[in-house]
Amino acid sequence: MSIDTQILPPDAAGIAAAAALLRAGQLVAFPTETVYGLGGDALNPAAVAAIFAAKGRPADDPLIVHLADAADLPRVAAAVPPAVQELAAAFWPGPLTLVLERGPAVPLAVTAGGSTVAVRVPAHPVARALIAAAGTPIAAPSANRFGHTSPTTAAHVLADLGGRIAAVIDGGPTPIGVESTVLDLTRPTPTVLRPGGVSLEELQAHVGEVAVESRGAGAQPLRSPGLLERHYAPHSPLWLVIGPEGAAQAWLRERAATERAAGRQVGLLVPDEDAALLADLGADIEPLGPSAALDSVARRLYAALRALDSRRPDCILARDLGERGLARAIRDRLSRAAAGRVVVLNSG
Ligand code: TXA
Ligand code: MG
Repeated sequence: MSIDTQILPPDAAGIAAAAALLRAGQLVAFPTETVYGLGGDALNPAAVAAIFAAKGRPADDPLIVHLADAADLPRVAAAVPPAVQELAAAFWPGPLTLVLERGPAVPLAVTAGGSTVAVRVPAHPVARALIAAAGTPIAAPSANRFGHTSPTTAAHVLADLGGRIAAVIDGGPTPIGVESTVLDLTRPTPTVLRPGGVSLEELQAHVGEVAVESRGAGAQPLRSPGLLERHYAPHSPLWLVIGPEGAAQAWLRERAATERAAGRQVGLLVPDEDAALLADLGADIEPLGPSAALDSVARRLYAALRALDSRRPDCILARDLGERGLARAIRDRLSRAAAGRVVVLNSG
């Protein structure tokens, strides 16, 4: 069954209308500084169930609870360890999600039955105003169908969820472009479960030792189901090349030329330098900005991937940009999109 999805402006009237829908148990997508979220009242089990249904998301993948202010933490978390004060002061509002012990008011559906709850205070003014006006914590996964790329515009949201949700607030493109960093504070050592908008280096500067959950290999039980490789999968097979810049660019050239010679369409998801270098190949290029400007690469990444993929090239080739700062999150998302098609060139 399809419903009429309203497109609301990011002004006081639009936010008031969206907040009334949320209080009535309806779903509203809204911009955050990272990506668009699919919001529902986190304390209303029916609204939470509707989020899973609208996304087609399996019930074992828990949701992030969004607060208007860190002072609301006791409403959703049972215990607030000392590191939270330090991290909240440094990074909230902002793209950091903290995994804490679940408070009793949070329905088990939000946490996928688990004893921990993921919480963040988003920085986007529309998100903060909306959560404050709703007067309740808001559960919000990224506003895409399960397994798809996260939305960074209202048009992306409508492409995936139009007809399935009550409304979307159109606040324009999101400024960061990749999701929040998820940091688990319930372990002896704070552990990054998902790299994102706050870098590992920034976290280390505030809490000292930080562990990073390794993906793949299926070693331990899955702590963050969002780590699954099937996320972000484009229709066209994506190859990610990791290695020294010159060698990786040479690999892209050779691979693209081989594909073109065989009459196949090639999409290139690369920084501006590579776009210039490889302009002669007749490939479909989505330039991401200069590789040194990682913030612009992150901001453009998902829109560029969606645009390339919508033209259904026979393959998409992407170049890794290392793991410093935001590059770690970019590598994470590209390697998920590659679903194992990762080529590592050694530096020797
Ligand atoms: O930037 C973001 O975080 C966006 C915006 C909308 O806030 N939200 C987002 O939500 O990316 P979602 O649901 O697409 O991803 C949340 C991630 C998933 O990987 C989920 O498994 C993990 O956080 N997560 C949620 N609760 C958790 C918990 N209690 N323990 C471990 N991981 C958890
Ligand atoms: Mg998501």
